[in-house]
Amino acid sequence: MNKSLLEKLSNDALVDRAIQIGDRTGYMASFFTGGLFSLEQLHNLFEEIKISGQAHEKSKFLELGSGNGVVAILAASAGFESYGIDINKDLVGLSGEFLEQLKREGAVPDGLLCRFVAGDYSAERRAAYDELGIKFSEIDVFYAFNTFEELKKIYEMFEKHSKNSARLIHPGIGVLDFIRSNFENLEATETGNFTVINKKG
Ligand SMILES: C[S@@+](CC[C@H](N)C(=O)[O-])C[C@H]1O[C@@H](n2cnc3c(N)ncnc32)[C@H](O)[C@@H]1O
Repeated sequence: MNKSLLEKLSNDALVDRAIQIGDRTGYMASFFTGGLFSLEQLHNLFEEIKISGQAHEKSKFLELGSGNGVVAILAASAGFESYGIDINKDLVGLSGEFLEQLKREGAVPDGLLCRFVAGDYSAERRAAYDELGIKFSEIDVFYAFNTFEELKKIYEMFEKHSKNSARLIHPGIGVLDFIRSNFENLEATETGNFTVINKKG
């Protein structure tokens, strides 16, 4: 991971940024990524997924609920064609601004492919996907950080609408039994602080 991007996405920098976002939007949920785990860990996981052949250069990455946009930017910097959808327009605007700032500062290349759109990420609601020019069924790697209630919906969506080789990553562990008992077509593993889910077969 390039050093300049690592500094810009350090936990301290992200906490500062989350506080600024909170001041501007009144919305603090984007704080979590900055506080719970190191972005370098996540970057390594993206690299591993690529190395193990489960994804390749320019595979498609989608952050479901992209918040402050940091994870989608990180995935883009790891070589994915990266997208973020968030229901909160302010956060989407700030994510775009942050990406432009990182480009200006030379922390990411000018041509980095990372796009954000405001809308509902539910696979059945097509508007955000149409705006991005992508389909849920084309995505190679999904990322979601959300409440367990919301994650259950995302598991269902993933099982029903994603392509067979797709992966779903979320921070947090301890859900393997839940997935085994409730989703017969899914299997999951734990890597560090993350759960990685794929379709069986
Ligand atoms: C806990 S935050 C996580 C943000 C970011 N992924 C991160 O890791 O920091 C969850 C995000 O999901 C968004 N969200 C929740 N439900 C959504 C939906 N149905 N469609 C789009 N975004 C949604 C919220 O606006 C919020 O920004």
